[in-house]
Amino acid sequence: MFKENILKGKTIIVTGGGTGLGKSMSERFSELGANVVITSRKSEVIEKTAEEISKKTGNSVLAVQSDVRKPFQNEAVLEKAVETFGRVDGLLNNAAGNFISPTERLSYKAFDTIVDIVLKGSYNFTLAAGKYWIKNKIAGTVLNIVTTYAFTGSGFVVPSAIAKAGVLNLTRSLAAEWGKYNIRLNAIAPGPFPTKGAWERLFPGAGFEDKLINKIPLKRVGEHSELANLATYLMSDFSGYITGDVITIDGGERLAGAGEFNWLEEIKPEQWDEIAARIKQANKK
Ligand code: HXC
Ligand code: NAP
Repeated sequence: MFKENILKGKTIIVTGGGTGLGKSMSERFSELGANVVITSRKSEVIEKTAEEISKKTGNSVLAVQSDVRKPFQNEAVLEKAVETFGRVDGLLNNAAGNFISPTERLSYKAFDTIVDIVLKGSYNFTLAAGKYWIKNKIAGTVLNIVTTYAFTGSGFVVPSAIAKAGVLNLTRSLAAEWGKYNIRLNAIAPGPFPTKGAWERLFPGAGFEDKLINKIPLKRVGEHSELANLATYLMSDFSGYITGDVITIDGGERLAGAGEFNWLEEIKPEQWDEIAARIKQANKK
């Protein structure tokens, strides 16, 4: 899909880049020539991932341990990235925390934990990168990973829904404010893409996955390469005039859940003759 090396010369920081979707997007960026910096709390995990990706792609991948909830640690990641690669061009806010729970069962700390990682972590890292780009007159790009319920809200993941909606608004607000500095911000709203981290916390029971697939018009979950290619486009100069926007990649799941009559999918083909006859009869009255 992409020319080789379309990200050559760019340095991209990926939060939560050691596992799951962050790892897949990091690998794609590296394959296409970027210097990638992956960061998360578990140093063994990011170091192993950095080595694995670098071996595959032949490009440098730097692992720097940090917790996105700690603003000074984010600044330190940025400094280390600049020290190693000379500059930073992109930030992928991908780190997240989430789990399903009835809201009335949540402690105050549970809410804070999710909001601190997702909303404050994305804001803090974006601010650190933005200050660096403004000071150095660099045309930076931020890509935020939200979810489809950032638009609609969702029960049972309320702290995450609140935090992701905030990140979506961060994307739109700063795109307007920082356009004058040539800084772009966009978001991706993925539907379900299997990862160990998400599946263990969001689909931890038998039958959960069948219910999920049934809700998706394309009748399948997403493939990591599909998300990684979209992220590459939004990180690359080919999307240079897109800012403040969000692209949904969910096999149609969100709209299918929202459309008033989409439940008619359950009606069997033979029942439609009878329904049509009933409607035509009513039309004659
Ligand atoms: C109720 C829970 C809970 C649960 C944790 N808590 N799990 N409460 N039900 N299942 C509460 C704890 O009891 C504690 O509150 C508070 O949350 C903080 O928990 P800790 O374990 O101390 O926090 P921490 O070690 O910082 O771990 C953060 C975490 C953990 C978010 C809880 O799950 C994590 O590290 N997650 C990172 C990876 C992740 O979540 N990946 C999935 C992203 S998927 P008290 O008051 O008891 O001390 C995603 C996809 C969305 O976002 C869309 C899919 C379609
Ligand atoms: P994942 O593998 O669990 O990824 C979450 C990452 O965040 C982990 O690498 C974790 O690493 C890191 N992280 C958590 N807390 C952190 C902190 N305080 N500081 C730094 N890093 C932290 O799950 P995933 O499914 O790939 O999720 C990636 C992103 O996609 C998230 O934003 C998620 O909301 C979004 N998303 C996923 C899906 C899906 O179906 N998978 C759907 C929609 C949106 P450490 O534990 O080492 O810190």
